[in-house]
Amino acid sequence: MNDFPTRNVFPHTAAINAQGRLVLGGCDVMDLAQEYGTPLYVYDEETLRRVCRQYREEFGSRYADTRVIYAAKAFINVALAGLLREEGLGLDVASGGELAVGLAGGMPAAEVYFHGNNKGGDELAEAVRGGIGRIVVDNLHELDLLEEVTQEVGRVQDILLRVSPGVDPHTHAYISTGALDSKFGFPIETGQAEEAVRQALASKGVRLVGLHCHIGSQLFETEPYVEAVRIVLGFAARMREEGFQLLEFSPGGGFAIAYTRDDEPPSVATFAEAISSAVKRECEAQGFDSQPTLVIEPGRSIVGPAGVALYTVGSRKAIPGVRSYVSVDGGMGDNIRPALYQAQYEAVVANRMEQEPAERVTIAGRFCESGDILVRDVDLPATEPGDIIAIPASGAYCPAMASNYNMAPRPAIVLVRDGAARLIRRRETYQDLMAADVV
Ligand SMILES: Cc1ncc(COP(=O)(O)O)c(C=O)c1O
Repeated sequence: MNDFPTRNVFPHTAAINAQGRLVLGGCDVMDLAQEYGTPLYVYDEETLRRVCRQYREEFGSRYADTRVIYAAKAFINVALAGLLREEGLGLDVASGGELAVGLAGGMPAAEVYFHGNNKGGDELAEAVRGGIGRIVVDNLHELDLLEEVTQEVGRVQDILLRVSPGVDPHTHAYISTGALDSKFGFPIETGQAEEAVRQALASKGVRLVGLHCHIGSQLFETEPYVEAVRIVLGFAARMREEGFQLLEFSPGGGFAIAYTRDDEPPSVATFAEAISSAVKRECEAQGFDSQPTLVIEPGRSIVGPAGVALYTVGSRKAIPGVRSYVSVDGGMGDNIRPALYQAQYEAVVANRMEQEPAERVTIAGRFCESGDILVRDVDLPATEPGDIIAIPASGAYCPAMASNYNMAPRPAIVLVRDGAARLIRRRETYQDLMAADVV
């Protein structure tokens, strides 16, 4: 197996074959592109399962009472939900739609946590009626809704309160969620979290089992987690006077992955060590009788590294002395991240893996926005129309955030393993684009 400079951002099984082509899960990606067309999202099953196991083992070996629930917003579909279940993970959903897909994939309702800052009354009723494990309550309006819903359904619902610890996680503002100025959760600093605990404890329809916080996404540092643990557990300790007992605690997800060759995110073990020891330490410092169940919610770090996007090279525009654009057949419709928050990616020419870089180009998408650029200034071998560009670390928040902008059908998705590919989502058709239109 040959290695290559961007090896760190590709799935575990990535290799180069005798024809100098990229291989994922034992499949030559040129064959995949030929069979399924492009843009195509390829997920490596071994990488997916390996990371799920790492989370369970690294946290579980340090803190036995750990629950790992996958954050569906990073990407969910029916087949993936089934795979996650096989690996013993639960699910964090942020909408009735994600819940429906998870359940259809075999995820038991009891293993699902329902998040969101504006859940609808109907969504809540469906979730409570369906026996959802936990609702993570974000605001007082939701507590009021739940009071009505639980009476209607005749079930007492276990809840967590999402609190905002006021921690700066040092990430992009759009994916920073735990600071005081955030739309999510009850701020501890302002006394609103305290009010929520009181109201939840007084409610007949809910049982307050714990606290949740999520401070941000793509976090490279362990310190913000440790700080959040300290603040939230300190708050829980103060709330004992109100009759509150912390049975569950979640520091959310947000663990960084490598997008570029220079990225070196901490290992799962490093995050596990920092978080589990902070929880144990804080429980002892606060004199808790018992330690709470620890709930971890990784999304990006499970699906991100497993996914590779394949695109076909089309037109080219060279502006002498300025820049050369190479356009591909996808872009912001299937990966909005570079346009939304300047996300950076690596790229390779999948059918020229052993050729030296010959030029610096910018990979442009096919959508009608100047901001539709997938990768800026990347050194690639000389490309021709028909070549296949592979963009690694594309598994999270790409298909999940995909749109039909410019009426582009969303791409197909395959799962590869041991030389075989399984289609887990077919490419959309023009008929799909019109399926909901009413004439
Ligand atoms: C509440 C909550 N949990 C978990 C996650 C997952 O974060 P990540 O995909 O970065 O692990 C998010 C992401 O925004 C979130 O809002």
